[in-house]
Amino acid sequence: MRMYDVIEKKRDGHKLSYEEIEFAVMGYTNGTIPDYQMSALLMAIYLKGMDEEETLNLTMIMANSGKTLDLSEIEGIKVDKHSTGGVGDKTSLVLGPMVAACGVPVAKMSGRGLGHTGGTIDKLESIEGFSTTISTTDFINNVNEIGIAIVGQTENLAPADKKIYALRDVTATVSCIPLIASSIMSKKLASGADCIVLDVKCGDGAFMKTKEDAICLANAMVKIGNGAGRKTVAIISDMDEPLGQAVGNSLEVIEAIDTLKGEGPNDLLELCLVLGSYMINLGGKSDTYEQGKKMLEEKIKTGQAFDKFKEFVSAQNGDSSYADNCEKFEKAGYIYEIKAEKDGYVSRICCEKIGKASLALGGGRENKESNIDLSVGIKIIKKVSDSIKKDDIIAIVYSNDEYKLKIATEIIRNAYEYSDIPVQKDKLIKAIITSEGIIEC
Ligand code: URA
Repeated sequence: MRMYDVIEKKRDGHKLSYEEIEFAVMGYTNGTIPDYQMSALLMAIYLKGMDEEETLNLTMIMANSGKTLDLSEIEGIKVDKHSTGGVGDKTSLVLGPMVAACGVPVAKMSGRGLGHTGGTIDKLESIEGFSTTISTTDFINNVNEIGIAIVGQTENLAPADKKIYALRDVTATVSCIPLIASSIMSKKLASGADCIVLDVKCGDGAFMKTKEDAICLANAMVKIGNGAGRKTVAIISDMDEPLGQAVGNSLEVIEAIDTLKGEGPNDLLELCLVLGSYMINLGGKSDTYEQGKKMLEEKIKTGQAFDKFKEFVSAQNGDSSYADNCEKFEKAGYIYEIKAEKDGYVSRICCEKIGKASLALGGGRENKESNIDLSVGIKIIKKVSDSIKKDDIIAIVYSNDEYKLKIATEIIRNAYEYSDIPVQKDKLIKAIITSEGIIEC
C-alpha cells in the first residue's frame, strides 16, 4: 500500500477501508509516514469528510494504538463522563462524588487545561497533597473500596491521537467533526468505561458555536460509542456564559464543594443533575432519569455526596479538611470588584473573553509547558438576564500581580454586554441525544 494512493482516494471523495486508515494512522504514529503526507490526508478528510464506518474505524485504530485501561477488576457498570470543554466547567468535581454516592463506580481519567478552558486535574491539585498520579493498582482499589478515583491521563493513552491532534493543531484541521469525534472518543474508549455520558458544550466559549453543529458532533460521538459497544448518551449544554460563578482552579473547587453541600449556583446544579441522572441510569442504578435525579438530590440533602468527596480526596493523599474549611485554599494577593457603569440588564457575557481573562491572570496554560497559578480567577456575580443598578458588583477578580489584574479587568469589562430592557436567558440544556434519537429541549 502507498500513502500517496490513500491521500488521492480521499482527495477524490472516496471511502477509505479499515486497512487504508490503519496503514496511514499507524504508519504516522510509528514514524514511517512523514508529517507532510499525514497533513495532506487530514486536509483531504477535512474537505471530503468521513462516513460513520470510516469514523468508527479511525476511532478504534487510535484507541488501540497504545495501552488501553482494563477496568474489569472493578465491580459494577463503569460510567464515564466527558465534557468537550467550557469556561467554569467544574461538573466532574461535583458529579464524581455524587454519582459514586449512588453506587455507580467512577473510574475517571481527566486532562489538564489548555488555552481558555480549564482541566479537572489542575483544579484538584489546588487541594494540598492531592495526587493525580496514583498507580493503576491503587486506582482500581480506590474505586472498589470507596467508589471513585480520578487520575491524569497516562502518557501512552491513544498515542496516535496525541500525535495526530498535535499535527491538526498546526495544519488548520482541528474543526472537523469526524476528526474531533474520533479524537475524543478514542481516548474515552481507551479509558475502559462501559458507558459514556457526553456533555457537548455549545456557544461562544465552546468548540461548537451553534446548536446545529453541537448536535452533529454529539451524534457522531454517540454513534461511535454505541458502535464500539459502549452505551453512550450526549447532552448539549449552553456555553454562552460561564457555568456557575467561579472561573479559576481553586475557586472552582470551592464552588464544587459548595454545590455538593447544596449551596452551589443553580445552573451548575441543574447540569450536574441531568448528567448525573443519565450516568446513574446507564450504570443500572435507576429505572428512570427522574428516579436518578431524586437519588442525586437525596445524596446532597443527606450530606453523603459531600462526605464522598472528602473520602475521595483523602484516598488520593489530599487534605480533606480543605473541604470543611475552604479558607485553607491558597488566596490571591489582590482582589478587585468590577462595578456596573449604568443601570440595565446583562444581555451577554462573552465566555471566550472570560476564559482569556483567566488565562491573562495566569490561571490557564498558554502552552503545554506553562506553569499555572491555582489561586487566581474570576467570580461572575451578575449573569445573563440579571438586572443591575449602577455600581453593583458584576464580577470579582483574584490576582497575584497588579499588572495582570489590570489587563484581566479590562477583558472582563469588555466581556459584559447590557440591555435597557429585560433579557430572556437561553435554556441551559438544549438537546439530549441517545441511540434512539434526538430530544430537543
Ligand atoms: N478535544 C480533543 O481531544 N480532540 C479534538 O479534536 C478536539 C477537542
